[in-house]
Amino acid sequence: MDLFEAIEKRRSVRNLVKCEIPREHLEKIVDAGRRAPSGMNIQPREFIVITDPELIEKLAEIQGFMRNASAIIAVVCDPKASKFWLEDMAASVENMLLAIVALGYDSCWVEGTLLGREEWAKELLGVPKEKRLMALLPIGKAASPGSQAPKKPLSEITYLNRYGEPFR
Ligand SMILES: Cc1cc2nc3c(=O)[nH]c(=O)nc-3n(C[C@H](O)[C@H](O)[C@H](O)COP(=O)(O)O)c2cc1C
Repeated sequence: MDLFEAIEKRRSVRNLVKCEIPREHLEKIVDAGRRAPSGMNIQPREFIVITDPELIEKLAEIQGFMRNASAIIAVVCDPKASKFWLEDMAASVENMLLAIVALGYDSCWVEGTLLGREEWAKELLGVPKEKRLMALLPIGKAASPGSQAPKKPLSEITYLNRYGEPFR
């Protein structure tokens, strides 16, 4: 799939259905995360590919729809390694979300609901205490078609040369 098509098709899908995901695809997805830029190329992020149905069921306690994921990618960060760790995490997450769509699957960036259960989830996944577990990307296929949440028009958020000058 063309990059721009993936950017347009990516959406937060919460009505996932399980599907077969070959290992090769899971590898491509985390490789897209690995290749994202990071401040000073420190790359303070690691990925856990979760395919164990019992762990997936447990993680769904955080947000129920994840029960229907076939795999979940967990993103682990090392805040001590770089002051840009949060940005570095976000860059890798977006790369992975686009790769997921390009390969024909759907996902959703799960972070808000993870925050309150982070320590519990870290323990479940064996993540070291000093690291952060920042995002979960459940992967499956959408049960029904849909579209990305509405976005502000470019004309409202883009300027030419100076703030406030219309981009025409
Ligand atoms: C930092 C961040 C945290 C998010 N956390 C959650 C979450 O915990 N649960 C969830 O269902 N969606 C979560 N989302 C998805 C957003 O709700 C979604 O991206 C937004 O509503 C726009 O919809 P779209 O992804 O279809 O464009 C999160 C997105 C971001 C960027």
